[in-house]
Amino acid sequence: MMRDLVLKNRSYRRFHQEVAIELETLTELVDLARLSASARNLQPLKYVLSCDPQKNALIFPHIALTAYPKDWRGPPEGERPSAYILILGDTEIRRSFGCDHGIAAQTVLLGATEKGLGGCIIGSIQREELRKALDIPPHYEILLVLALGKPKERVILETVGPNGDTRYWRDSEGIHHVPKRRLDDIIVG
Ligand SMILES: Cc1cc2nc3c(=O)[nH]c(=O)nc-3n(C[C@H](O)[C@H](O)[C@H](O)COP(=O)(O)O)c2cc1C
Repeated sequence: MMRDLVLKNRSYRRFHQEVAIELETLTELVDLARLSASARNLQPLKYVLSCDPQKNALIFPHIALTAYPKDWRGPPEGERPSAYILILGDTEIRRSFGCDHGIAAQTVLLGATEKGLGGCIIGSIQREELRKALDIPPHYEILLVLALGKPKERVILETVGPNGDTRYWRDSEGIHHVPKRRLDDIIVG
C-alpha cells in the first residue's frame, strides 16, 4: 500500500482548476505535517493556506511550476492549482530548518494523494515578491510552496537511460515522463 501511494504521488503541474479544494482539506493536510518528525522537536514550521481564486492568483505569478521543457511556461489559466500550502520557517524559533520542510512537504503530498489529489513541491520561488503579495512578516522564511489540485496529466516513471539524463520530458500526447535512477545505481555500499 505504501509503495502504491509513493508511486501515485508524482509531481503534477496541470490541474482541473475548476475543482475546488476546501480549507478543511488543507487544514487536515497540515495536521499530518504537524504530527511528523522535526529536528530537536522544535517544530519551527508555519503554514499559509490558500484555496480561493483571488489569493491563488496572488501566488501563481511568483512560482516556477516548470523547469523542462524549456519552452513550456507553466500551466495556462484553467489548468492551474486550486490550492497552495506555503511552508514557512519561523526564525523566532530557529534560524535554520534542516530537512523539516522536506519531511513536511512529502507528508502533505502523500496525504493529498490519498485523498485523490495531487501536487508539486516548488522551491523555485520569487520569495520577496511573494512575501509582499501575501504580506508575510519578515521573521518567516519562505521555504517551499506546495501546489495542489486534481491532476489533469498522466505521469509515467521510467528508468534513466545509458546517457544518464534525468530530465523529465513530455511526449507529443502530453504524457509526462520522469526518469528514475536504477536501484543498483543508488545503493553504493
Ligand atoms: C525540494 C524540491 C524542489 C522542487 N522545486 C520545483 C520547482 O520549483 N518547480 C517544479 O516544477 N518542480 C519542482 N520540484 C519537483 C521536481 O521537479 C520533481 O520531484 C521531479 O521532477 C521528479 O518528479 P516526481 O516528483 O514525479 O518523482 C521540486 C522538488 C523538490 C523535492
